[in-house]
Amino acid sequence: MESNPSSVVLETDRLVLRTLVPADLDALAALYADPEVRRYFPDGTRTRKETREELDWIIDVYYGRYGYGLWATVLKETGAFIGRCGLLPWEIEGRTEVEVAYLLDRSHWGRGLATEAARAIAGHAFATLPVDRLICLIDPENSASRNVATRLGMSLLWKDYVDEYGTCDVYALPRDGVLL
Ligand SMILES: CC(C)(COP(=O)(O)OP(=O)(O)OC[C@H]1O[C@@H](n2cnc3c(N)ncnc32)[C@H](O)[C@@H]1OP(=O)(O)O)[C@@H](O)C(=O)NCCC(=O)NCCS
Repeated sequence: MESNPSSVVLETDRLVLRTLVPADLDALAALYADPEVRRYFPDGTRTRKETREELDWIIDVYYGRYGYGLWATVLKETGAFIGRCGLLPWEIEGRTEVEVAYLLDRSHWGRGLATEAARAIAGHAFATLPVDRLICLIDPENSASRNVATRLGMSLLWKDYVDEYGTCDVYALPRDGVLL
């Protein structure tokens, strides 16, 4: 794992999104150990070791190979690490798709922060990546996540999409207003 210094990727009114660094392990592991935060993830909570493996993967593979990934989400007001949001690559039906991903600490839900982050992330993705659309993979029971996606302008692309992780609904936001 490289230990490059963190760099700012995006800024919104209330948030800074910056690259994750190995020193974020404690904060990320605390987030991933919360069963409420991980409720709709097929693999549930993560141990510190699993979180370290994911962090290594984000830094080495996502940043290194794709130039994007999940970013530390920091509240400007306090400087606190309150989540990780960003972009994830997927191969679906032979096509590379890019997901807008968001996960915040429970104490910061209900403030519009995930939607604020997701809007900035989607704008960044369309400005920097040659993608025709962005997607979200959402557990049908995860209404908070679905609400963020619909506030972002996404609509349902595939219901009950099944992959190796389970079943989810796929929402999409087209670049040009037409779902491809
Ligand atoms: C998904 C998740 C990020 C959504 O967080 P959230 O706080 O509900 O979403 P938003 O940031 O868009 O906030 C919206 C809420 O804030 C309220 N709000 C308060 N102040 C606001 C403001 N200034 N601007 C906008 N909304 C505001 C909205 O009314 C809305 O409330 P409601 O849910 O009661 O309708 C959060 O539930 C989470 O981290 N879950 C665990 C991880 C997860 O499942 N991620 C998705 C995987 S697909």
